[in-house]
Amino acid sequence: MGDTGANPNLVPREVLPGVWACPNAEELARTAARRFVDWAWQSIARDGQFHVALSGGSTPQTLFRVLASQEFRGQIDWPRVQIFWGDERAVPPDDPESNYGMARRELLVRVPIPGGNVHRMEAEDANMGRAAHHYEALLRRYLPLDDRGFPVLHLVFLGLGPEGHTASLFPGSRLLRETSRWVSTPNVAKLGKRRMTLTLPVLDAAQRVVFLVAGSEKAAILREVLLGHPEPPLPAQMVQPRNGERIFLVDEAAAALLGAGVPTPAAPRPASPKGRT
Ligand code: 6PG
Repeated sequence: MGDTGANPNLVPREVLPGVWACPNAEELARTAARRFVDWAWQSIARDGQFHVALSGGSTPQTLFRVLASQEFRGQIDWPRVQIFWGDERAVPPDDPESNYGMARRELLVRVPIPGGNVHRMEAEDANMGRAAHHYEALLRRYLPLDDRGFPVLHLVFLGLGPEGHTASLFPGSRLLRETSRWVSTPNVAKLGKRRMTLTLPVLDAAQRVVFLVAGSEKAAILREVLLGHPEPPLPAQMVQPRNGERIFLVDEAAAALLGAGVPTPAAPRPASPKGRT
């Protein structure tokens, strides 16, 4: 995963299989943006559309800004991009807590994406169960189904919470045993709030799941997710795409406890002149 132009110091290093560490949060966002462009081209060339679920929280903010930048926004065929969310807070779209609101401010109003291509979760609905059904119907309308009947997203961005939650799948939640519903509205005891979230079967049906993780405060939980064997497993560990790939794009601060990384293959020794070992 090189391609950072000339500067080798900016090349993400593979710290574990499928786990790439970037020098800092800005380079993490730029690496993710470059990947987004490539995956968009591949999916649109193959399927005519690029179906993406965005994550919430603070980490994707820089990525959204980079994607909306002069350098990147022209590289993406936005009319062929369909935007969904992995989860949402039970607040109106203009609330500072809204995941949709943040993406709208940082990305969606700055790129030529048709309004009809943006599919937010209406988690502020007083009847969240009905809103979850609506969202499931929406996914059914836009997305192909896999061999188990779950909707297939080309790309799902996910974050990592301090205790190992991802999307709005929190440790200890019954939702982690969900096997049929696509969208759910858990009451998150830790927050005392309801959320709307895609379920594990939908995340596992994706062609590609990308965790974006930044900051030293995430180093311990990232190590636990990638190298730990807690019982029961953490929600972020339970995301295992069945026919797709799982990638972690992190910054060096978050990767600080992951060790020296995947050894880069030694350069082949120059052949020694005939007869000399
Ligand atoms: C949300 C998220 C959540 C988030 C993690 C990490 O709505 O909060 O989707 O899963 O990704 O909590 O959040 P930060 O990026 O802010 O650390």
